[in-house]
Amino acid sequence: MKLFESFRLDPANQCLWRGESRVPLTPKAFDVLRYLVEHPARLVTQDELLEALWPGTYVNPELIKKYILGIRKVLGDRHDNPVYIETLPKRGYQFIAPVTDHMAEDSHDLSSEAASKMVGREIALSELQAAFKKVTRGQRQIIFVAGEPGIGKTTLVDSFHRYASRQENVRTARGQCVEGFGGKEPYYPMLDALGHLARTPSAGATLQTLAKRAPTWFIQFPALIRPEQRDALQREILGATRERMVREICEALESLTSEAPILLVFEDLHWVDPSTLDLISALARRREEAKLMLVCTYRPVDMILSNSSLKGLKHDLLVHDLCAEIALERLPEPAVAEYLATEFPTSSLPPAMANLIYRHSEGNPLFMVAIVQDMIKKGFISQHNGEWTLNKPLETIDPGVPLSLQQMLELQVERLTASEQRVLEAGSVVGAHFSPWAIATALDESPDRIEDLCDDLAARQQMIKAIGIQELPSAMGAAQYEFRHALYRQAIYRRTAPGKRARLHRAIAERLRTASGPSPRQFASEIAFHFEAGGEFEQATRFLVLAADNAAARFAYRDCIQVLQHALELIPKIEAPLGAELEAQVLEFMGDAQYALGAMAESAAAYEAAASRASQAGLRNAQVSALSSLVRPFGFIDPDKGIAAVNRALEVSRSMQDPALLARTQMLAAGSHLLYDRWREDDAVLCASAYKQLQELGDANTPPFHKMIYAHVQALQGNYFEALEIFEKGIAKLNQTATLMEHFFALSGKTVALLRMGRLGEVLQIVRHGREMAEKNGNDPWLFNFREAWLRMLALDFEGSTRVCETIFQMKTAYPVGQPQTIARIARGYAAIAGGFTQLDKGQYPRAIELFDQVRDSQATPKFFLHWMWRINAQLGICEAWLQSGEIEKATGEADGLLNSALQTADPHLQALAWEMQAQIGVVKQDWKRAEDCVNKALEILIRFEVPVAGWQVHATAWQLYRSTQKFREAESHREKAQGYILKIADSFAEGEPLRETFLSATPIVRIIQPPAEER
Ligand SMILES: Nc1ncnc2c1ncn2[C@@H]1O[C@H](COP(=O)(O)OP(=O)(O)O)[C@@H](O)[C@H]1O
Ligand SMILES: [Mg+2]
Repeated sequence: MKLFESFRLDPANQCLWRGESRVPLTPKAFDVLRYLVEHPARLVTQDELLEALWPGTYVNPELIKKYILGIRKVLGDRHDNPVYIETLPKRGYQFIAPVTDHMAEDSHDLSSEAASKMVGREIALSELQAAFKKVTRGQRQIIFVAGEPGIGKTTLVDSFHRYASRQENVRTARGQCVEGFGGKEPYYPMLDALGHLARTPSAGATLQTLAKRAPTWFIQFPALIRPEQRDALQREILGATRERMVREICEALESLTSEAPILLVFEDLHWVDPSTLDLISALARRREEAKLMLVCTYRPVDMILSNSSLKGLKHDLLVHDLCAEIALERLPEPAVAEYLATEFPTSSLPPAMANLIYRHSEGNPLFMVAIVQDMIKKGFISQHNGEWTLNKPLETIDPGVPLSLQQMLELQVERLTASEQRVLEAGSVVGAHFSPWAIATALDESPDRIEDLCDDLAARQQMIKAIGIQELPSAMGAAQYEFRHALYRQAIYRRTAPGKRARLHRAIAERLRTASGPSPRQFASEIAFHFEAGGEFEQATRFLVLAADNAAARFAYRDCIQVLQHALELIPKIEAPLGAELEAQVLEFMGDAQYALGAMAESAAAYEAAASRASQAGLRNAQVSALSSLVRPFGFIDPDKGIAAVNRALEVSRSMQDPALLARTQMLAAGSHLLYDRWREDDAVLCASAYKQLQELGDANTPPFHKMIYAHVQALQGNYFEALEIFEKGIAKLNQTATLMEHFFALSGKTVALLRMGRLGEVLQIVRHGREMAEKNGNDPWLFNFREAWLRMLALDFEGSTRVCETIFQMKTAYPVGQPQTIARIARGYAAIAGGFTQLDKGQYPRAIELFDQVRDSQATPKFFLHWMWRINAQLGICEAWLQSGEIEKATGEADGLLNSALQTADPHLQALAWEMQAQIGVVKQDWKRAEDCVNKALEILIRFEVPVAGWQVHATAWQLYRSTQKFREAESHREKAQGYILKIADSFAEGEPLRETFLSATPIVRIIQPPAEER
């Protein structure tokens, strides 16, 4: 703590205090002041300040001047006769007021409390202090401070805040909820408070903790992230959810408070956003030790009016004893008397004056203070020779006092000059704080003139106070002012004529938009709010879409959807063609957000609405886009509907003269047929030619999803390396939250290619990493579970595969279980075959066949992504079962069907296995010629494609064949090749990986790699 005059500067908590109250100051202005105060009584040059506060960045030295001016205003310094900061022309600045150091003191030291004017809050304050004692013992405390406007919530919290910051090592931070647009900014007060903590001298440790424990929060402060950290961070937060974000900040706060307490103050929670409520709820409910105190203020009436779920949350927490509430009552008469006694220490004021003020104000402190100030202004009270006296009999004053606080405030406004009123009106439209530049165009005045006028008002303690300098991309530094109380702002705003208000809102929105320059996203909600209030609904909608983007970047998809819903409400007020276009755009965005939440039905509904809106309005581009999006959610819940949607998209594209769009849609439609319906050569050709055409057109607009569809199609034709390359790009590039599902699609595609290529170990690693991430994010790791079940099957771990499927069913996944159900059936079928094989339990075969049949049956197993591939797998299983049980004719029939199915696809893996099954049957039937032909067909495939999983089986059958025909040299060479494939697959696993051992010890594998002597 540094003391000068009546100020105390608390660098640890970035606070400036005057007496008991906090002097609001913008962060950078605080830094400048701190630097000067910490280097007092000597010249500080501009260069030194620039070097210390903006290292490594270019800053116009003019900005420093602005800051000094701003700080002078806040301190109440005068340019001509400075008491605090002196300008040494052309050289720099010097802090001239005497500065004393003050160590953290205990609460008994009341030396500076003489300046305090808080009265009547002893009990409330001691309650807060008692709670703080518990906090220092590791018991987290959540306290709500409730009361009507002006009752003294902020005053009480300020006083407690100052008490807390005087305790050793205590860190404090505040976050403000904002009226109007704040509720549309997820985690607004928490981000505000973190921004504070990240600027304190101990910020290094705070940032480290955030980076380590709360990357989803750290990423919200791009300016604090080093370039080399960015990529890793982006990967780390992939797929993050609201749950993860909330949990991470809780853990980070717990870690930050493990050494020393933190006091967080969230002000004016009646304007809170839903995500912050989630956060408060989690903070209150966690049982971990934490030296954390959260004090929240709110106005009960406004809470009810705002319909916020704050009411329910607070009630619930109170019932469970997880929070406490301090309801501030109006001041009693003796407190009013006490206030007068501290305000006018030596006076001859009549004792009845307290009663007069008490009666009129009804104990509302804001009203009380306003009455007293009014009396001074009117000259009823004045100071003579150091003594305050009343110049008029009380009885004559009494009738003149306004009846309500509202009237009182209005009266105060009316006494201002016309230009002062104009400036304040415009300021009140901006919000709780405003800068002259923001209202200059609206008022057609120069910002300097407005600034002079505001300074004058602030110096007279009229309505506003200076709070320092605001830095903006295009307005390089501007004075900022704050209304002394929200009610002042409200009083001024309300008396402004509605038409004028709307005009001001519009002008301010325009000004904010130009000032925010190339990065309007940061101010999107604010700009949208002003456009809406100004009746510019089109612009409002556009900025709401940007605000929704912001929410999505904070993984707050529900908030994102709420913002979009709000945008939809504005659409009817927009002229037809534009309105429809925006509506389609908003609806499509909503579909994306629902998709990101995993709400597939809702997502599909939103895309369908977007498509039909676009169709009605004849917006074909938008229609194609929405219809194309539909295949994503429908792919999960109803593939046929997804296919119908892409077909419609194709139809519409055909009616347009846009070759790139047509090619894109063709590629998507053909690919969707192939992946969700069935394989047709025509579609495969179309898909490939469309892709080629897009490459020739240099089409950069192809959505990632379309490319992944194409890559899947390639993978299913054995073009694994091309597919992998595209998937790989998809994974690297898609590390943004907005396209998370596409990222998963790319990752999933990559595993398909790797599984076909026998790189099982790599898939296992992807699965494990993916599951870890899902756990962190609180997501259902369905995709990774699906892949593990498939992987285990290829590694002949049928038990393991079945087990994974069981866990999927237990998870009650939101995703349709077609695929895992199928894998489970096939795995169980193979397990049954294996059982039949090893235990000679013939009863197992019919059971296996029944399971495989269920997979083939389109009733029992409706369509899902790549369903046909699994159905062919089931055919393979049936053949195997018939063959093992000695039913050769049945096996032959099925094997022919299998070959037929496989040849209708372009999948080398399936085709090699289908030929191999024919060969097996040939061997059993001792039709050596047929067996050899078929083996050769399969071997040809192995030459052209990298399919080792089919490979070892083909060579194993060839081995059998040539042993049976007594060609032992050839037989042995096939056995060796089978063994080669097997070892290749096994070696894709890490050393010591249990699944590797399971694979190598499976019966068919052991037979190949350790054949009994007589089989050599
Ligand atoms: N306990 C108190 N003693 C003296 N003055 C008070 C007290 N509480 C509030 N005030 C005065 O009333 C004004 C409004 O109080 P504030 O704390 O801002 O109210 P709230 O936050 O509840 O709306 C303050 O600026 C201060 O001047
Ligand atoms: Mg307040």
